[in-house]
Amino acid sequence: MSRPRPDLDISRHLIEPVWSPTHPIDESAPPIDWPSFFGNPRPVELEVGSGKGLFLANAASAHPDRNYLGVEITKKYARLAAERLVKQQIENARLWAGDIRGVMPRIIDRSLLAVHVYFPDPWWKKRHKKRRVFNADLVASIARTLQPGGGLHIASDVQEYYQVIRELMAADPRFEELPALEPDSPEHDLDYLTNFERKYRLEGRPIYRANYHRTNADAVAETEASTSSIA
Ligand SMILES: C[S@@+](CC[C@H](N)C(=O)[O-])C[C@H]1O[C@@H](n2cnc3c(N)ncnc32)[C@H](O)[C@@H]1O
Repeated sequence: MSRPRPDLDISRHLIEPVWSPTHPIDESAPPIDWPSFFGNPRPVELEVGSGKGLFLANAASAHPDRNYLGVEITKKYARLAAERLVKQQIENARLWAGDIRGVMPRIIDRSLLAVHVYFPDPWWKKRHKKRRVFNADLVASIARTLQPGGGLHIASDVQEYYQVIRELMAADPRFEELPALEPDSPEHDLDYLTNFERKYRLEGRPIYRANYHRTNADAVAETEASTSSIA
């Protein structure tokens, strides 16, 4: 799996936008129109930091009635993940080789069915923690782009980071926590949530999971505001 296959045509599965690591947000880039992007109007799920793409491939195969976009900043991994999709003839998933901070602003409000963030890099050193992808900005952009009832699914092997994530989520009334289910025993070598999940479960390390759904808290607030202005 991990050897690149330059002979494969991944041009339909890999999006390689021009972006700058120092300025990942292009204010002039247009919003992404999902039906044109995927060529159909099916609901869209987003994965932040797809690595080598095991989740994307398994989820897209299991749900052919949905579309999946994985955003992966490391070009080599984005390419490997796109190759995985092509080899498995998966048509309802794409890889975006870039920084999630440049993609979120381009996603239209309430246009996502689900967001997945699995094993985000912990950036252990104190001075590096500001590089963590799961932060208040990401929470705000997920709240804006998830449709009411949509899901946010998280896993981490780092208890301290997981606690930080749970605190960020608990502070936002637009999310409600759902029970985190333990997965079934894998039936084969690729029957894992992600590549990192596979590695850590095989090592017997604890995995911390959390699931949320997007409430319609702001919709309620908007209705209350308009009712009081009528009264
Ligand atoms: C620890 S790996 C986990 C990969 C995969 N989710 C898994 O569980 O196997 C974290 C991934 O997030 C990617 N990543 C880190 N920062 C990112 C960002 N700002 N935008 C997109 N991807 C990012 C890294 O390149 C890396 O592949």
